Amino acid sequence: MKYTMKLKSLDIGRLTTTNNIFLAPMAGYTDYAFRSLCIKLGAGFTVTEMVSAKGLAYNNENTKELLRTGEEEKCVAVQLFGREPYYLRKACESEDLKNFDVVDINMGCPVAKIYNNGEGSRLMQEPELAGKIVEECVKSGKIITVKFRAGITDENLLAYDFAQRMEQSGASLVTIHGRTREGMYSGKVFYNEIAKIKSSLSIPVIANGGIFSVEDADYMMQETGADGVAIGRGALSDPLLFSKLSQKQTDMSLKDSIFYLIDKRLAYEKDQTVAHDLRKFAVQILKGVRGGKEAKLKIFQAESTNEIKDILNGVL
Ligand SMILES: Cc1cc2nc3c(=O)[nH]c(=O)nc-3n(C[C@H](O)[C@H](O)[C@H](O)COP(=O)(O)O)c2cc1C
Repeated sequence: MKYTMKLKSLDIGRLTTTNNIFLAPMAGYTDYAFRSLCIKLGAGFTVTEMVSAKGLAYNNENTKELLRTGEEEKCVAVQLFGREPYYLRKACESEDLKNFDVVDINMGCPVAKIYNNGEGSRLMQEPELAGKIVEECVKSGKIITVKFRAGITDENLLAYDFAQRMEQSGASLVTIHGRTREGMYSGKVFYNEIAKIKSSLSIPVIANGGIFSVEDADYMMQETGADGVAIGRGALSDPLLFSKLSQKQTDMSLKDSIFYLIDKRLAYEKDQTVAHDLRKFAVQILKGVRGGKEAKLKIFQAESTNEIKDILNGVL
């Protein structure tokens, strides 16, 4: 099948992206090293893991580590979550966010701990408050984008009206995960809802949900007419998907990509920390690889990155 997705840069406020293939934010995964890898492979825009607006206000050190970025990240958003317009604006204005021109507000997280706290996807049920958050954050001078879902339940999609409000409140781009909260990460993707939103907004609309291959990206673009796509889990199991989607030539193999992650992180983290944290990435990359199961078991025992590299050399 021929790949037909039209590549283009997008204007997000005053910033122009490299292309319209975005890396979706993933807590625990889209740290600086992983984002750097995705950019190297062709991602046109990346987003940090979600960061608590209140955590920033209270100078939480773990929160600050999530803000690490580097030279190669010209097109990156920091993602904030919270529900008080005051704290979100304060976070936008804080010195900690000086390296980020774009702030993405999380209005899609389905996790109970977040939802029950009135944050993430819960804000879709409080559109007035959600609008106020965006209005306040815009006043900080940052470019504000919003990520949300098709709705909370499959029977009552909320995204269309919500998207209008986000644009009216000053958002410069929206990313829509086509599933509802109820659908979590495996439910139905409501392509039509994204299509309706795309044809009604003048800001860029990024479609997200279930893209694991170039065919999936084509399908998403054809069904929604969106301006671009955001890739989540597909990037974890195959970071090279960015090279395929962006048509950026690379001589990196899957093994090179995970070695890149290791080496990047070793520049600022202890070897054992990297070795332990690399386990979850290795599990993803070894999906479907012959001998992967045994390799995963060994990686779970490994205490150094050299051990991990040796194990991966045996299977990849
Ligand atoms: C492990 C994991 C962590 C995630 N963390 C976030 C997050 O911090 N912020 C956010 O907006 N979405 C988060 N998401 C949702 C993804 O950005 C994306 O919307 C979702 O995975 C659907 O896209 P996909 O089918 O391409 O994976 C997360 C998803 C996963 C699997």
